[in-house]
Amino acid sequence: MYNSKHNDLNAAKELDLEYPSQRNHFHFPEVPAGEDCLYFCGHSLGLMPKDAQTAIDTELDSWRKYGVEGHFNGPYPWLPYHENITKSFANLVGAKETEVVAMNTLTVNLHLMLVSFYRPTKTRYKILIENNTFPSDKYAVDSQVRFHGYENAVVELVPDEGKKTVSPESLLKQIEELGDELALVMLGNCNYLSGQKFDMKAISQKAHSVGALCGFNMAHGAGNLDANLSDSGADFAVWCSYKYLNSGPGGLAGCFVNERHHSDPKIPRFEGWWGHDKSSRFKMGPEFEPIQSVEAWQLSNPPIFQLASMRASMNLFDKVGIKNLRSRGDKITSYLEFLFHENLGDDIEVVTPKERGSMLCIQLKKDPKSMVEKLGKRGVFLDFREPDILRVCPTAMYNSFEDCFKLVQVLKESLA
Ligand SMILES: Cc1ncc(COP(=O)(O)O)c(C=O)c1O
Repeated sequence: MYNSKHNDLNAAKELDLEYPSQRNHFHFPEVPAGEDCLYFCGHSLGLMPKDAQTAIDTELDSWRKYGVEGHFNGPYPWLPYHENITKSFANLVGAKETEVVAMNTLTVNLHLMLVSFYRPTKTRYKILIENNTFPSDKYAVDSQVRFHGYENAVVELVPDEGKKTVSPESLLKQIEELGDELALVMLGNCNYLSGQKFDMKAISQKAHSVGALCGFNMAHGAGNLDANLSDSGADFAVWCSYKYLNSGPGGLAGCFVNERHHSDPKIPRFEGWWGHDKSSRFKMGPEFEPIQSVEAWQLSNPPIFQLASMRASMNLFDKVGIKNLRSRGDKITSYLEFLFHENLGDDIEVVTPKERGSMLCIQLKKDPKSMVEKLGKRGVFLDFREPDILRVCPTAMYNSFEDCFKLVQVLKESLA
């Protein structure tokens, strides 16, 4: 798609005119005088949407004006506030509105899902996870296994020989081999370290075919990949909102439970009053009557200020649409990869395979740590993972092709 004439600032600017971003709706952080802000950390903490301030101020105003009555009054009453997010989430991950909810934070939701969907027996007790899974996910599954009184139950995917990633064929084969010992497959739909995307439908089908359940951590997929959760057949999914979804530090997480599980009276579930049937919740009865949707998994009334910034961010996702975002994401990510190859050649290796979202992981051959320090002084935001991985994310929502061009120039200067 790109050739040597695209290795040029004016060509990058032309691409920006052809494929515009939403960067005017975001605040970019301050950087040293004379430098451009080159923010490539949308996979870690997304930028602040300009409307987030007004959205939070609106709720502070409601609190000031109405006190407890803010649950029923004001532009966005708090009692059903989380419902303002539902439709946007459903569109974002490709699910029915009854299947998605914004609640808690990511690891909390993962534990709640494991309570419901990791149901080990003496013979079927293994969980398959990624080989380089995010530590919190590993701690969650390890502690669930211990909680159920099992050991040696967590199996990590084996990457292809000589590679850091696993091919789709090998992944499915590994599920098949675990067969009737496998209780649950729990993978990211986009790996946090390599940026590799996984085929949720093929994996869910394979897991189900051997009698296991299947769930996904979409922390690096939500707002990045164009997912189709309902159709994938996955049993559950969880995701955070502070990365690609730009809802702010510690933002609330998402949760998906496939509708076939909603009315199962036997499903084990940790419960709280926010999951109780809404029409009788305030009768304050002693018995739990679940909402007949994923909302039954809610525990507490949610933090409104966090939901407010999320609402501001979701308005932008609604406006652009995830399919358009993914399409722009593919173009800008391929452009960055092209620039890496053209300009940095042998000094780096792109680890991320072609099945991916917007994040590129590059392995630096020369002293990566001091490189990251140098880049920080030049207004560049990206992150470093021990021992030698830089994760660089040209976010479809707000990064420009010009950002990519300038980043590669700064990298080249710093490597020289
Ligand atoms: C893949 C993955 N899992 C889990 C977490 C932990 O998230 P939280 O602190 O919101 O529970 C993260 C955070 O970056 C993540 O990327």
